[in-house]
Amino acid sequence: MEFQKNIICIGAGYVGGTTMAVIAAKCPHCRVTAVDVDADRIALWNSGNLPIYEPGLDDVIRKARGKNLFFSTDIDGAIRGADIIFVSVSTPTKSFGEGEGMAADLQYWEKTARRIGESACGDTIVVEKSTFPVRTAFAMERILSTMNSGNRFQVLSNPEFLAEGSAVRDLEEPDRVLIGSHDGPEAVAARDELVALYENWVPREKIITSNIWSAELSKLAANAFLAQRVSSINAISVFCEKTEADVTEVARAVGMDNRIGSKFLNASLGFGGSCFKKDVLSLVYLCRCYGLHEVAEYWNWVVRMNEYQKNRFVQTMLGAMFNTLAGKKVALFGFAFKADTGDTRETPAADVARSLLAEHAEITITDPKAIENARRDLAGLPVTFTPDPYEAASGSDAVAVVTDWSLYKTLDYEKIFQSMNKPSFVFDGRNILDHSRLFEIGFNVFPIGKVSLVHF
Ligand code: NAD
Ligand code: UGA
Repeated sequence: MEFQKNIICIGAGYVGGTTMAVIAAKCPHCRVTAVDVDADRIALWNSGNLPIYEPGLDDVIRKARGKNLFFSTDIDGAIRGADIIFVSVSTPTKSFGEGEGMAADLQYWEKTARRIGESACGDTIVVEKSTFPVRTAFAMERILSTMNSGNRFQVLSNPEFLAEGSAVRDLEEPDRVLIGSHDGPEAVAARDELVALYENWVPREKIITSNIWSAELSKLAANAFLAQRVSSINAISVFCEKTEADVTEVARAVGMDNRIGSKFLNASLGFGGSCFKKDVLSLVYLCRCYGLHEVAEYWNWVVRMNEYQKNRFVQTMLGAMFNTLAGKKVALFGFAFKADTGDTRETPAADVARSLLAEHAEITITDPKAIENARRDLAGLPVTFTPDPYEAASGSDAVAVVTDWSLYKTLDYEKIFQSMNKPSFVFDGRNILDHSRLFEIGFNVFPIGKVSLVHF
């Protein structure tokens, strides 16, 4: 079949793979290819066992793969034939040198820019899909124009706002699609081409355009605002525990104000995931680079509050269990950074596991989708894994709910109680369980931001 457009994405990770799958499904007139340096990952994308778990993704891939959706390691070949190149490579926090622990590590992006410069033929639109520091497009344009002066490149910023666990739905029905460009006629023509691509399934009023620096900054700002809400409600949760206020009641009352809204007000043991901490710290670093120290400090507290909340969770366990965890058995319910994903990047569960091990507790981890990643993350540490929550809890002193999987709400807690050492404890780091019922069964219950229910 003759395709009207050839679209590629460099970086076939959570974002690249999922985004390309949805574009292919929605645009049968386009040939869509996701390429990556990681041959194992590409092999999995081409198999029946996808490299990531994402509800609904199997179905989308099955329908498009081999027709207009392809996964390949031939990066240069893909670049040569591309009309539009999305760049969705990793931008982790830098772990060395200037900006270590804060700035975004741009080495993967820079290598990609050079590769595009080497291999591109004809006029090409390059779309920043990864989350980049503000003004990254400037460097991309410089590299491309010096390396490949024979062709014209238009660089656009089109940050991705999908959340894991709901990525397919977020891509199919986004709150908005943001496209940033310069304002010369060629840049505007490129922008309109990308707008037209999204118009295949997104209503035009949801596709917004802006200047390119606004688009880059909007992505960092959106993640900073979301993370800030979680840190704000978590800060209130500490206060609730001291005053017998209930954080769920406070969140409901606060969230019913239309100006505030009810989403992202679930107190927890802390936010995780590959992006919140990384992007807030990237913003903090950028603010410092521009000499905006008060602004930097303001955002830095979003991350500091999160660290405090994660530490507090283990401190509560230690205090409740008579100030010693040595030799005690703890079952961690969940290891993924949130429900409906197998992703464990920056999961609070890893901090909890390490802190418990430092107290010489014995831990068993259960999770419906993240056990493989948990094994890799905690390699070499004395941890037991099982997919069965009943087995994890059996013989333990405490259950700690770390991930908000709904399956944990409906377990038979009578049976779990019978199988545990006494006194038995539940630490609900997600406030998803029926605390009064657990207390009636005999558990000592420690939620987040609520009065604890204790039998002694
Ligand atoms: P990821 O690590 O899952 O995927 C990145 C992929 O890029 C990897 O498969 C890696 O092998 C590949 N890669 C690295 N260097 C390469 C190169 N030179 N050439 C070709 N491939 C290369 O990361 P992700 O979660 O998909 O995130 C990608 C970007 O999207 C990041 O900037 C992230 O901040 C942003 N983002 C992520 C999410 C999310 O939910 N994960 C949501 C929105 C935005
Ligand atoms: C987040 C954003 O929601 C996306 O818009 C963004 O595109 C993405 O980061 C990114 O840039 O990577 P994600 O990290 O996948 O998506 O998941 P979220 O639903 O935002 O949850 C992040 C963390 O906050 C999780 O650990 C979650 O459990 C926690 N959380 C969330 C709470 O503790 N309380 C809440 O009320 C909401």
